[in-house]
Formats: sequence, structure tokens, C-alpha cells
Amino acid sequence: MGELEGFLNRVICGDAAEVLRRLPSNSVDLVITSPPYYRQRNYGAGGIGNERTVEEYIDNLMVIFRECVRVVKDTGSIVFNLGDKYEDGSLLLVPYRFAIEAMKRTGVKLINEVTWVKPNPVPKQDRRKLVPATEPFFIFVKSGDYYFNRDAFLNHVDFLKRTKRKRGNNLGKRYFELIEMSDLTPEQKSRAKRELMEVIREVKEGRIEGFRMKIKGVHAMPYGGQEGGRKIHMERDGFTIIRIYGRSIKRDVIESPVETIKGNIHPAVYPEYIVQEFLKLLTKEGDVVLDPFIGSGTTGVVAKRMGRHFIGIEINPKYCEYARRRIAEVKPRRTLEWFV
Ligand SMILES: C[S@@+](CC[C@H](N)C(=O)[O-])C[C@H]1O[C@@H](n2cnc3c(N)ncnc32)[C@H](O)[C@@H]1O
Repeated sequence: MGELEGFLNRVICGDAAEVLRRLPSNSVDLVITSPPYYRQRNYGAGGIGNERTVEEYIDNLMVIFRECVRVVKDTGSIVFNLGDKYEDGSLLLVPYRFAIEAMKRTGVKLINEVTWVKPNPVPKQDRRKLVPATEPFFIFVKSGDYYFNRDAFLNHVDFLKRTKRKRGNNLGKRYFELIEMSDLTPEQKSRAKRELMEVIREVKEGRIEGFRMKIKGVHAMPYGGQEGGRKIHMERDGFTIIRIYGRSIKRDVIESPVETIKGNIHPAVYPEYIVQEFLKLLTKEGDVVLDPFIGSGTTGVVAKRMGRHFIGIEINPKYCEYARRRIAEVKPRRTLEWFV
């Protein structure tokens, strides 16, 4: 940790490309950041984002990405969140162009593209297009040795509670109708309904995330192999129920509203909740988290709250000041040395 003296738990005001060059190689556990998107807005201090072409933008971003690859440990990872852009009525697919170049030029592996789903996207006026409501968070790694605490990702009960609330009273209604319409014997029908009621109760109590039912003559029969047991069950009883255990299936999707934080002077803040889940997945307490485009300080806020060290870089002095103040107000869960 001594090698990072002077950098740790600070927001450093400057150009990321230049500041990163001063950081030692293999010293950071996680880089997580949201760079300025291509031609989206002007952050008022130069920097990246307003290049003439998307190729130029990717070249400039790649200078910083290369440095991120250098400073991250072999056990670490790099998370980049990028947004897309319409040009001439067509999406440019900027995030994917970037991800492909990142892999080609630096040899990193892309282990996941996690899709951020926004329940409250910014409505656009174009009546001939749907409103974009997702953005990718790419997880890149340098080696197969990366730290990955899959069980910690989205491990809270909120998700199950939300599912419970959303599904309400219509849960399973369609299956009751299908059972009734099926060619099952009266005994099979009553057993299917009994078991259906039981599984609905499990969902409502939050014990499982959901289920699917297959009814003989209505749904396709399961194949053999891994599904062999289900096939036998369906032939014998006329139905089978597949329980979905939310906590064990970790999907590459994260739902979070676009946040507006009272008093935040920055126009493009990413959600604390998403940063928190990535820190749970990719770091341990005491690890070092770097954000080369820290903006209003979100990454620092979450890192401090979760007992991780952070290093933030930001080109606009106004945002540097703001980020420092915002981070200083956070109470860490553990005592670390905070220099903000
Ligand atoms: C999308 S914002 C990041 C917002 C941040 N995730 C948050 O939650 O507040 C990108 C930031 O990068 C900064 N920036 C642009 N070019 C930069 C550069 N070359 N070096 C450092 N920061 C830069 C901008 O001023 C802007 O604040």
C-alpha cells in the first residue's frame, strides 16, 4: 500500500492520462468508471468526449484504458460503463466498438457485459424510435486469476421482495387455466393445482424467485439428459414444476433508477447502488478502487462507505472540489486513513 502513498483516498485534479502515468503498475484491485460518452455533453474543462469522430474518441479513451490495464493487479478487474449515440438516425454502437478495441489492443478478456436497466430513462422526443433504457457495464480482466465474489452480488432480499410485490394476485393464474383445459385425468388435475398453489405460496413468501410449469399435451416435453427426471415426472404425473432460486442464479442484469442527488452539481452521475454491487462482486475490504473519471465522486463515496480505499481523478476543478466535499461527509464503516 506504501507504493500508493500520496494517491490513496484522494481526488486528484488533472488529466487522467497524465495522472495515471504516475501510478505504479499492478497496484490497484479494481478500476470502475464511467467516462464521458461520445459527443453527449461538455464538462467544461476539455478532456475526453467531444472528438470529431468516434474513432478519435476511442483512440483517446484507449490511452487511458491502457494505463488502467497497467495499474490493475493480475487478480483485479476493470469495469467501464459507456453510453451510445445516434448519428444520422443510426446508433453508432460506441460501447461495443470500444470493448472490441480494448480486447484487441490490450489483450484483456471481457468476462461479462452487465446490463443496467433503467426504470426511469430520460424520455426522448423522437416518435419513430423507442426510448433507450439500458447501458452496458463491461467487466474486463487481465488473467484467469481475478477475484470474483459471485455470491455477494445482488445478495440482498430487496429483489425477492420486489418480485413478490410485482407479481401480486395474478401469479400462476394462466397455469390454472391451462391445467383445466388440458387432457390430464381429474386426479392429475387436482394434484397439479395443489402443487401449483404450494409453489405460488413459496414465491409470495419470498422463498423462491419464481417458477415455470410444464403440462403434458400443452407444453413441449423436456429432453432426456439433464432434463430426464423432469421427463419422467411429466409422463407419470402429467406436469412438472421448475423452481427458480433467485439467489443462486446470478444474472448479468442490474436494475436501478437514474439517480438525481439533491444538490449534486454534476449532470451525469451513475448510481451508487450499481457501484456498490460491483464493489461487492470484485473487491474485499481494504482493497484499492480507482476511478479515472470520478466526476461528482460517486465511486469514492461508495468505496469509503464499504471500507475500501479509493483513488479518484477528475479534470474539472469544480467537480474535484465538489467530489471531495461529498466524500468527506461519508462515514466509513471501518477506520481507514482518509485524506480527502
Ligand atoms: C460521466 S462523468 C463521470 C460521473 C461520475 N461517474 C459520477 O457519478 O459523478 C465523466 C467525467 O470525466 C471528466 N473528464 C473528462 N475528460 C477527462 C480527463 N481526460 N481526465 C479526467 N477527467 C476527465 C469530466 O469532467 C466528467 O466529470
